[in-house]
Amino acid sequence: MVKLVLALAALALTLLAVYAEDEVHDISTFKLGEGPVEEALAEGETENPDVVTEAPAASGILSAIAGISIPQCVRKKADLTCPDSDINYYLYSGETKKMKFDTTSDEWFEQSGFDVKKPTVFLFHGYQGGENVMPTVILRDAYIKNGSYNLITADYPTLVKERCDRAAQQNAEPVAKCTADVFAYLKKNGVTAEQTTCIGFSLGAHICGITANFLPEKMAKIVALDPAGARFNRRNKDKRLDEADALTVHAIHTDTRRYGEGEVVGKADVCVNNGRQPACKDAPSESSNDFILN
Ligand SMILES: *[C@@H]1O[C@H](CO)[C@@H](O)[C@H](O)[C@H]1NC(C)=O
Repeated sequence: MVKLVLALAALALTLLAVYAEDEVHDISTFKLGEGPVEEALAEGETENPDVVTEAPAASGILSAIAGISIPQCVRKKADLTCPDSDINYYLYSGETKKMKFDTTSDEWFEQSGFDVKKPTVFLFHGYQGGENVMPTVILRDAYIKNGSYNLITADYPTLVKERCDRAAQQNAEPVAKCTADVFAYLKKNGVTAEQTTCIGFSLGAHICGITANFLPEKMAKIVALDPAGARFNRRNKDKRLDEADALTVHAIHTDTRRYGEGEVVGKADVCVNNGRQPACKDAPSESSNDFILN
């Protein structure tokens, strides 16, 4: 798993460098095994103190009799009003500054440290993820460390809770809607779609794609890291990621057999090991929270 995550991070950085239009990027300085990736792995999964992990609440007669507990899944309506307290956005500018977005305040932008001259990157986590949960932490920290981007992370852990996969999939759309609102706020302050990239892991990749359908113009790029397969591939294109959702869409498929999408979703699709990872087959668990270091 750790190799997979490292490969994803490295590939994402490579793609970002290779396809950048104006500049020639040198990624030779980014070495696996040192820097933000290593630090993130050394720390393991970083717990987000904001997240309250509810014990699954027992509900219904059946579960009462059988003693089974059923998790309370949060489902948001597609037409919810944004901002929503379960969907938060953070701006990282500089090495240490982290600011929670407040799109209701015009002053927020001024004091946020947002630099409209820098490219903007949105980062979306997947099912069971969070802004501060592996594996997206690796990408987040790599961008923070780099310093040449306005990095925006989206955080919606209660909408993608364990055992709530159906709800999580439905929640992709409301998250996308609120993201479009954040984008409208940024646009008002001088940020353009053509300097914006959206990166999403698994379910997050589809959030990038669905967000695109709410935007008046296309973002420069979407990078889909193992875009989720389950049920998304049976949806209409406006409810999932497709190749028309940004000026260019790159996808890295690493798990085409189970959770990931096996079909082409972008303009450039990379299938690592043909979408199968034999090195991970003896991993103790399929949970994204388990890493094997060797
Ligand atoms: C940040 O990333 C860009 C694009 O890959 C690269 O050109 C630049 O050198 C990086 N900066 C640092 C400080 O690593």
